Amino acid sequence: MQVLVLNGVNLDALGRRDPKIYGGLSLNELETKIYEWAHALDVTARCRQTNSEGEYIGWIHDAYDDVDAVIANPGAWSHYSYAIRDALELLEVPIVEVHLSNIEEREEWRRHSVIAELAAFRVIGKGPEGYRDALQFLAGKIDR
Ligand code: DQA
Repeated sequence: MQVLVLNGVNLDALGRRDPKIYGGLSLNELETKIYEWAHALDVTARCRQTNSEGEYIGWIHDAYDDVDAVIANPGAWSHYSYAIRDALELLEVPIVEVHLSNIEEREEWRRHSVIAELAAFRVIGKGPEGYRDALQFLAGKIDR
């Protein structure tokens, strides 16, 4: 199983962002953990991050033929990017939405995710381990 993990805007600043909200790992450390978790589940993961919305959408387009599932944390784009939503909507593979923080208990504007209804599974507020849950779901180890 090939899983594409797409982290979006400002997630490259993990480690410098408030650790009480986002956990203390850098993006590099987070990706290392994702690769370890994926390996243990016999899943092939590819992690990518960008601060360019167009690039993020391009990677979703590239995924149409290439991957078996997508784990998406678009960062702040989650709350307003209908362009990312439209791109994700064309995917025929499962999408898992992950947020490190509990967006439902933060500022009002963060509570809504425009991609939520496209997600086969959502993991919110579990920190880095949320990506492990996402991989476990895709590997059939946990039910939604
Ligand atoms: C985030 C939550 C978003 O509201 C925020 O803009 C982010 C990260 C999360 O993982 O908790 O950049 O997606």
